[in-house]
This record gives sequence, C-alpha cells and structure tokens, in this order.
Amino acid sequence: MVINSGMKDIFDIVYKNFRLDCRSYNESYIQRRINARIMSNNLHSDDYGAYAKLLAASIKEQRCLYDALTINVTQFFRDIRLWEVLRKDVFPKIAEEKKKKFEKMFQIWSCGCSSGEEPFSIAILIKELLNDRKDLLPLIIGTDIDEQSFVKSDKAAYDINAFRSMPQEYLHKYFKAVTVGSSKKYELDPSIHNLVKFQKNNFLIDPPPVKNVDVIFCRNVIIYFTPAAKEKLMNVFYETLADHGWLILGKSEVLFTAKMQERFYLYNVEERIYRKERRKSQIKVDIDRRKNWWIGYVKNI
Ligand SMILES: C[S@@+](CC[C@H](N)C(=O)[O-])C[C@H]1O[C@@H](n2cnc3c(N)ncnc32)[C@H](O)[C@@H]1O
Repeated sequence: MVINSGMKDIFDIVYKNFRLDCRSYNESYIQRRINARIMSNNLHSDDYGAYAKLLAASIKEQRCLYDALTINVTQFFRDIRLWEVLRKDVFPKIAEEKKKKFEKMFQIWSCGCSSGEEPFSIAILIKELLNDRKDLLPLIIGTDIDEQSFVKSDKAAYDINAFRSMPQEYLHKYFKAVTVGSSKKYELDPSIHNLVKFQKNNFLIDPPPVKNVDVIFCRNVIIYFTPAAKEKLMNVFYETLADHGWLILGKSEVLFTAKMQERFYLYNVEERIYRKERRKSQIKVDIDRRKNWWIGYVKNI
C-alpha cells in the first residue's frame, strides 16, 4: 500500500486510539471508507492531510471513522442455509465424535461477533441439540475488536430487523417482547444468554481467548483483510483449533494459499465449512493402526 503522510497520520490516530492497524486491511477498502468520512465532512476527496488534522482534533470523528472501518452489520441466523447444515449435520457429528472420545467440553469461538447475534444463534442451536443432555458442556465465546458492540449483547434486546433470517419458532421460544423507551424490542432468554461469554479481542494482535477450540466462526470479517493478514490469522486459527476442529468462514470468503489448503480441507464448499487436517503424527498413527490391523488380518486367514 502506498501511504502518503496524511494517510500515515490517520493510521497512527486510529491505531493509538483503537489498536486497529489499517495496514492489515485491503487498500481499496480503507481508501473507500476514509474517503466516505472525508466527503461527510465536506472536504475534497482524497485530501487525507486535511482530514488527518480534523481527525486529530475530534474524538467524535475518530469514533465515526472507527465505526466506518469496522462494519458491524449482522443478524441472527445470517445465511440460513449454513445454520441448517450446522443443525442437521455438523453439530450432531461433533456431539457424536465427542461421545466416542468421552470428551465433555464443547468449545466454540465466534470472532468478530459484532453485537452478539452470531454467538447467540450458535447458543440457540446448541440448546436445541443438547436439550437436557448433561454429557456435553458448551462454552461459547464471542469476541470483537469493538467493545461498544457488546453494549447490545449485554442487554440482549434486539429489534425485529435482527430476526429476518431466524426461524419464527425460535423467536417465540427464546425471546420475549419488551418495550424500551418508545420502541419494541425482543429480549433473549437468560438460558441462552448465559451460554455465551463476551470478550474484547483483536485477533490480529491478541492471543486467542481459549485453546483447543472445536469450532471457530470467522464470518464476514477477513473479506477486508490483506493476504498477509489473512495468512497470519489462519495460522492462529490452525493452532487454536482442536485436532480435526472446524472453521467456518463467510459466504464470500475462502482459504486461498496452498499452505492453508494443506492445513485445512473443505468439508462443505457451499457453506465455506473447513476442517483442520489431522496432524501428520495423527495420520501416521492412523496409517500404522490400519497396517497393524491388516497384518493381523492376514495372519489370521
Ligand atoms: C460484518 S461484522 C460480522 C459479524 C458476524 N460475524 C456476522 O457474520 O454476522 C464484522 C465484525 O468484525 C469485527 N472486526 C474487524 N476487525 C477485527 C479484528 N481485527 N479483531 C476482531 N474483530 C474485528 C468488527 O468490529 C465487526 O463487528
């Protein structure tokens, strides 16, 4: 990215105040977002120097730019087909595999979770799956770089637009209508709310909030990142996932490099569901086991 001095000042202000490194995001994306703010302030397009001065002097404008950079659009059960695959196939499979391994903990990390709709959707599906079963202990962690997005998830009261993709039965089952000021909202049942822990985390800088994660959701975030930032992030995800763990990306996001394709394999192409390859040592154990089984079989006939 070619960075002139005005732009460098803007990047420094954003990093100092929010720990967001603009260099990790696509050049055209960053330029578009900054230019939108430049125009909103009636400055000439691409006048980064003038905008940097304005930005340095205005905390309000710093927040506006930050909001423009960290687009936090989301909703419950966004891309409904993915949630159907999770409900019918992926989550039951995980439960089955855990049962076979006598494992109780079921850990899920929703990173870049915005105002909580994604981790709460996960919690609803897990609740439906487990019902009263006590053999699995779910832990769902929602993280975002922007702690202000958690204000909404703390109260867990959402307006009706947040539920456009969500099956109606869940609205009746897990939400109650409340009046907040002059507007009608839907408040999440504490039994779902309590399944999710929220934490501020910039996943390009901070260590992951947990280790040995079974499923990582990172949807509609990396689309704005540079290839180098994506690569770094995928390494973090690889190390954070449990053996043969699951990675779920957004509809228009893919694992692109050869190295990453070696480390993850595509489980469902339509829904961008990947699984971590078993570690080489694990594959070797599997092959050895198969060989021994074959030798034993041959010996016995
Ligand atoms: C478009 S929302 C996606 C929300 C949700 N995952 C979904 O698909 O509906 C993108 C979120 O990623 C967050 N984000 C952007 N950069 C991040 C970073 N470096 N670390 C953590 N979160 C980040 C933003 O603050 C924003 O809330």
